[in-house]
Parts: sequence; structure tokens; C-alpha cells
Amino acid sequence: MSSLAVTDDASRAGARVGLKSDKIVINGGNPLRGRIEVRGAKNLATKAMVAALLADTPSILRDVPDISDVGVVTGMLEAYGVSVTKVAEGELRLDPSNVEKAHFAEIDALAGSSRIPILFCGPLLHRLGEALIPDLGGCRIGDRPIDFHMDALRAFGAIVDKSYEGIRLTAPDGLKGALIEFPYPSVGATEQVLLTAVLAEGVTELKNAAIEPEIMDLIAILQKMGAIIWMEPNRTIFIEGVDKLHGYNHKALFDRNEAASWASAALATDGDIYVGGAKQQELMTFLNVFRKAGGAFDIHEDGIRFYRGPGGLKPVQVETDVHPGFMTDWQQPLIVALTQATGVSFVHETVYENRFGFTDALIEMGANIEVHKDGLESITRRVPRRPLEQAAVITGPTPLHGADIRVPDLRGGFSHLIAALTAEGQSTISNVGIISRGYEHFIDKLALLGADFVYEG
Ligand code: EPU
Repeated sequence: MSSLAVTDDASRAGARVGLKSDKIVINGGNPLRGRIEVRGAKNLATKAMVAALLADTPSILRDVPDISDVGVVTGMLEAYGVSVTKVAEGELRLDPSNVEKAHFAEIDALAGSSRIPILFCGPLLHRLGEALIPDLGGCRIGDRPIDFHMDALRAFGAIVDKSYEGIRLTAPDGLKGALIEFPYPSVGATEQVLLTAVLAEGVTELKNAAIEPEIMDLIAILQKMGAIIWMEPNRTIFIEGVDKLHGYNHKALFDRNEAASWASAALATDGDIYVGGAKQQELMTFLNVFRKAGGAFDIHEDGIRFYRGPGGLKPVQVETDVHPGFMTDWQQPLIVALTQATGVSFVHETVYENRFGFTDALIEMGANIEVHKDGLESITRRVPRRPLEQAAVITGPTPLHGADIRVPDLRGGFSHLIAALTAEGQSTISNVGIISRGYEHFIDKLALLGADFVYEG
């Protein structure tokens, strides 16, 4: 994918949430202090919106963040005849009574910016007997194949044809419960199975499923809709298909990736950030690493306060993993803070094969980071090595200085913001629209936290 296409995605993403400029100029070196709120998780709200397509009555989703990925899914749903209405701040009413086939050009234009369209497969097969999935977007952090999704859909009885437009699925004999085992507990493919199995005939058994908190929240939503889903130990989920589902009323789980990102911003800039809406339970693994890295936190009923502890920042060894491990989305912001720790930190990325691209900019700003493209052996590894994994070795502390940088992907982009805020001097960051895919009102939040920046929007 060319950098031109990335720029195009960035400005389209930004425009969806009203961002006028794709560039921010940051004067770094000042701690971020204050309180911001996080709302519903990008990686739940977007899927919950797709689930509404399965119902025969309207659903209400609360705490929906104002991010561009929500805009993409809204556009997709509307293209299929679902009426999506904002009934209050952060509250959407999704009415699927008039679902109809969409024009391919309409969904194709939207799909390029997100991974979510793939999750429309099961619901569309149930509702319309056909699903046409264009080429998918999302962050360019690896190959991001969809083989688990397609294999699972075939197991339900779908016929998958590749056409020049994308992938066309049909189910002439309907969809039937299946026994499915994933080679790896993929988040998206688990959601695919859930959204398909709930209305398939018979029982589905899914082995090696992902069990991220967002998946548990999606299961809660499906249960509210009338689905029958239960879990057994060792990542096995059973779904007993039902004839019909009704709408839900649900408050989305908070965005733990956004919360962890602001926590890392507090750590890197020696700031003090109260993240309203953050909860301990879903952040436990992050909080342990945060504490080991020299961070401190106070847990309250309505949020968590993050700041540096008294002993300075310390190096850590981290391996990203599926839940309940350390999320891959947490490593990028944390690495900025680790550039300020005294000693050598190791971050093993085991989920995606290309998620250290953002470190180029940090190195340009003065960080000492070595990326090992084939990963690194370590005797203290917790998870077995995966093929294609990578490692970053961060040696600190290194003062950072301002630079002109370009956001490569969502989480990498947020880490660039933190790096620029940590650095002495001025940085110009372009392509910031990408950040709006997953960080609600991030420019307003920077202002609330006292960041020194110029954004012409
Ligand atoms: N994989 C396959 N085949 C498949 C599906 C996945 O090989 O058919 C591989 C992927 O290539 C990757 C690994 O399995 O190496 C994990 O992918 P997974 O399917 O779990 O991820 P995803 O569903 O595409 C979601 C989030 C990501 C988050 C991951 C891991 C959404 C929309 N995206 O992606 O979030 O990093 O789970 O938790 O929910 C982000 O928010 O910035 C983001 C990238």
C-alpha cells in the first residue's frame, strides 16, 4: 500500500469526525496533567453495531465513542438499510426493520478504511442470503489474513467465491451449527463465529476462541438479544442457535486501549492523568507492567489516576499476547515511556508481524531502539515463540527532540503524539486523521491536559 493511500485514509478518517487539518504542531517537554474521560471501546462498539443487524427490532447502544471507525460502520449499516439515529450524546438507535441489499460501490468506498466489514458476513447471510465483502482496510501492521473467518463460514455451510470485487458468500442450504477449532485465538474470527452461530441451526462448538473483555461484552449483548451462549474452560465457547433475536439496550464496555494509551502518556511526560471511565478489572495485566515500569496509579470508582512513582522509570520485559496477556495495542504507547527508563527493556510482539514500524520516528527523535525483525530468544519467555514475531530492545534513558513525523497507523500514531509531547522542542505530526479512528476527541483531550500545540481545525 502506498503512502499516498495512507494519507488518503487519514484525511478521510479525520473528516468523518470533523477534523479539518491532518497536521498538528506540538511543543513538547511539558507534563500532561488533568482529567479526561474514555467512553465505549472501539473494538466493542463497532461489533455491537453489527450485532444489531441480527435483530428484528431496534437496538440502543450507549457510550458510543465519536470516532471515525464508528462512522464507517454507521455508513455500512445505512447502506444495508439499517436506520442509525443518534438519540442522545453517545447513544445510537439502530433499527434493522428494513434491511436490504446494498450497492457494492457504496460499501466498497467505506470498507477500505476498516476491518469491521468482514463481520457483516454471518448477519448478512442470515438476513439476505448473500454477503459481498470488499477489500478490507484497517491498520497496516502485518498481513492480516482472513483465512480463519472464511474457514469458519464454510464450516457453517457458506459458499465462498472470490470475485474481482472482493469475496461473495452465499448459503443456499442455510447456515448450520459447526465444530470449529482455530489455530490461534483470533479476536475477529471469534466474533465472526459468534455473530453467525447465534442464528444458525443447531449447536456450534468453538475451540481455541479469543476471550478478550470486548468479546465477553459482545456475548453479553447477544444474550440480551435472546441468544444462548455458554463457555467451558480452555477457550471453548458453545452457541445454541435460536430462530430469532430481538434488539438490545446496552452500555458499551470502556476502551481499555485508550485508557492504557493515556496512562502511558502520563508516564512518558512525567504527568498526572485521571482517566475517567477506566476500570481495574480489564486493565489488570497492563497495571502490573505499568507499576513495574515505575508508574503509580490510584483506583477509584469512576476512573483511574496514572502518574510516575517515586523511584523513576525502570526497564521491563513485555510479551504481547491474547487476553489475559499484555495486549498488542498497549505496546506502542508504552515504548515511548520506556525510552525514558534507566536500563534495557525488551518488547516481544507476538500477535502481529509488523507492529514496530512506528519506532522509526522515535529513533529519529533520539530514542535508542533496535528492532529484531526475526524476534529474539529469551530464557524468561512466558509464551512460546510464534513464527513472524518481532522484538524491540529499548535502551534508556534518552532525551527526545522534536521532529517532523508521519503517523503510520492508529496505535503507532498515538505513540508519536506522546513522543512529541515528551520531546524537547517542536514536532510536526502529519496524517493525524488516522488517530481519530480510535481516539475520541483526542485534540480536545490534549488541550484539557495542558498540552502545548497548534492545530488548525
Ligand atoms: N489471523 C490469521 N487469520 C485470520 C485472522 C487472524 O492468521 O483469519 C492472525 C492475524 O494476522 C494476527 C493474529 O491472528 O497475526 C491476531 O489477529 P486477530 O484476528 O486477533 O485480530 P483482529 O480481530 O484483526 C482485533 C482488533 C485489533 C487488536 C487485535 C488483537 C478490532 C477491530 N481490531 O483485530 O485492534 O490489535 O484484535 O487484540 O477489534 C487496534 O485497535 O488498533 C487494533 C489493531
